[in-house]
Amino acid sequence: MIEDYMRWEQYILRRAPDFELKYDVGGRRYEIGPDDRVYVAGMGGSGVVGDLLRDLSALYDWPFDVVVVKDYFFRGRRGLMIAVSYSGNTVETITAAQEALRRGIPVVAITTGGRLAELGIPTIRVPKASAPRAALPQMFTAALWVLRRIYGIEFALPDSLPYDSALEERLKSVISRRPTIVAPASMQGVAYRVKNEINENAKMDSPVEILPEAHHNWIEGASSPLMALTSEQIPLEHRRRVEITVDLVGGELFKVDMTIGGVLTFLKHVGLATAKLALERGIDPLKTPRIDLIKQRL
Ligand code: PA5
Repeated sequence: MIEDYMRWEQYILRRAPDFELKYDVGGRRYEIGPDDRVYVAGMGGSGVVGDLLRDLSALYDWPFDVVVVKDYFFRGRRGLMIAVSYSGNTVETITAAQEALRRGIPVVAITTGGRLAELGIPTIRVPKASAPRAALPQMFTAALWVLRRIYGIEFALPDSLPYDSALEERLKSVISRRPTIVAPASMQGVAYRVKNEINENAKMDSPVEILPEAHHNWIEGASSPLMALTSEQIPLEHRRRVEITVDLVGGELFKVDMTIGGVLTFLKHVGLATAKLALERGIDPLKTPRIDLIKQRL
């Protein structure tokens, strides 16, 4: 898994994957075209693709809203869906995709295979990794290419995701103190990914608070340690709120470059830090026995 994170730049899809814009499923015709709403369905390590796209679409004013779907149940009436499941077998994602199709909404799948790849919808197959969450670069950049093809959005892919041992050590030191993660709404996806990595790799609990809402409740009960996220690219209103929080409560501030390369570089270090924290505690970061057990029991 550590090797996967260290090789993340090799998994960035550098060429546009091909997929059909018009297709038939169950005798019904679907046509993929620009709509001002894009649903991104997916859970866990796959679902974070939607969270990150939501952050970026708002920051860079892309011409559509990203609506993240992390449930079986889907009630959209129009738009386009990107269904992301590393395994292709996650029941919530498959159910949401099937419901979208039933509602006449075209779906594009991003997966390594599984049942999602058998729905008869345009499917982008991405390379495998040691775990779904370790396959973020290929799933995330596949989704970006889908959006580029449909909406013509511009984005720059990084040549490399430079390793910074000082950042990894700082992350390890902060995360080992079991912080509350605090982030503005414009970085919610990044914050949830940090939380998920702490949960799944390090097997530690990790609360997240999102500003400005948390300034209307959580702040009264807040206590240290905090791991606060900020960025030069986010709105001033959000930056100020993060700064005030750290002034009031204390905590470590992490600046994230909210570009595709900046986000992947930061999250690569979060992956490394959480995997190494697990190993230092004699825990296998790769194994997720409770997640597996729940999937089996359903
Ligand atoms: O990272 C993980 O292992 C999990 O969070 C999975 O991504 C999650 O359970 C969903 O599975 P999949 O990504 O195969 O759809």
